[in-house]
Amino acid sequence: MAKQKTSFFCRNCGANSVRWIGKCPSCGEWNTYAEEFVDHLHKAKGKADTIIGQDAVRISEVLIDEESRIDTLDAELNRVLGGGLVKGSMVLISGEPGIGKSTLLLQMGLKLHSKKVLYVTGEESQSQIKIRSERIKMQNPELYILSETVTDRIFNQANILEPEIIIIDSIQTVVTTNIESTQGSISQVRECAGEFQRYAKESGICIVLVGHITKDGYIAGPKILEHIVDVVLQFEGDNNNIYRLLRSSKNRFGSTSEFGIYEMTNTGLNEVLNPSSVLLGERNHSLSGVSVCCAIEGQRPFLIEVQALVANAVYGTAQRSSTGYDLRRLHMLLAVLEKRVGYQLANKDVFLNLAGGIKLNDPAIDLSVIASIISSYEDKQIDGKFVFAGEVGLSGEIRAVNRIENRVIEAERLGFEKIYIASGNTKGLAQNKFQIEMIGVSTVFELRDILFNSI
Ligand code: TYD
Ligand code: MG
Repeated sequence: MAKQKTSFFCRNCGANSVRWIGKCPSCGEWNTYAEEFVDHLHKAKGKADTIIGQDAVRISEVLIDEESRIDTLDAELNRVLGGGLVKGSMVLISGEPGIGKSTLLLQMGLKLHSKKVLYVTGEESQSQIKIRSERIKMQNPELYILSETVTDRIFNQANILEPEIIIIDSIQTVVTTNIESTQGSISQVRECAGEFQRYAKESGICIVLVGHITKDGYIAGPKILEHIVDVVLQFEGDNNNIYRLLRSSKNRFGSTSEFGIYEMTNTGLNEVLNPSSVLLGERNHSLSGVSVCCAIEGQRPFLIEVQALVANAVYGTAQRSSTGYDLRRLHMLLAVLEKRVGYQLANKDVFLNLAGGIKLNDPAIDLSVIASIISSYEDKQIDGKFVFAGEVGLSGEIRAVNRIENRVIEAERLGFEKIYIASGNTKGLAQNKFQIEMIGVSTVFELRDILFNSI
């Protein structure tokens, strides 16, 4: 019997090598190489086609298909995709198990009344999908469910049905017969994704892949797929929270700064079109350590509550924990407060939380984080009608942030009375245009004085 050919693959980036290596030369990760059987059974297949190929075309002669986008009828998904699914493209939706990827895609398929959609499931049975669709309470007679894992059979069904969209749930469960390697292995995932990509390009069908991220990273992760697909979307959120965020980290057809918010309900995912109204919730309580920030992610400004708790540390080393906000940045802000305001925080536990379990990267949240920490430290509450938007620098200075006018308008629209912004930001704004009072602050020290020493 001939010896089976094996190769080593990096679990992180998919690079391969004939022997085991400790550090991947391609991505720099340690101890990520795993051995897999690789046997290209049909190497010679299709060789004749590849020789002839296509003719090159002048760029001026390339035709743009105006209707090449499919409206998903889901405002949040459209926003993140940059206007809808592009025909012949491949989209990857990744996220941790149980976050709602299957729900989101099934719901998309059910919403698209006039379009033929093929939902291929390798994880759940057809009846499980049916039960879920009953929960979502939407119907699309043109939605087909296929319980299949072999790529050629999927293509066969797709050729018969001729759908406009194919959903593959998930890429880790499909296998190709062209190579002999176990299901979910790096070489299988890469080979299958390559086959889907060729199929999408040739047929003009849009293919949406679901990819799992596992915490230990032992199953071929979507990292390898990121190079192959056109759009990479991440579906994230806290399993214990109802809000889910959809972001894009790669988009060949649109911006990557957009994001969508959904809430998981008993009847599927609901689009959250007005994030401020839900993220602020009922704000009639008056507690210390709470302030409101006006953040902008993508094109939309919205208000979100920032909560901080500063308490005496019970154990020797003080704890710092943060949900939704970068922990390193929190450490930086605490150091700024120690150095510039003179707070003794070394023996205090500090907990920070952005409402709704949502992760944000806008630097304008800094000012609100500082305000909440000061409020909790001093144990004095901040008026519920105040909003903050500003970046904090290492010397405790408050820096101007972008698109301040949009933030002020959003705060005013929601009935807030005062907005604290960087002094540098007040220059371009005419106070008489707004009802809301704008207060410029230039340092963290000044912020504390304005907020608490004067009352
Ligand atoms: P699912 O889409 O199966 O997640 P994934 O495909 O990312 O693994 O979602 C699973 C979770 O969503 C599950 O915990 C149940 C919950 N869920 C609801 O809360 N409401 C619903 O209407 C549906 C369909 C699911
Ligand atoms: Mg699923």
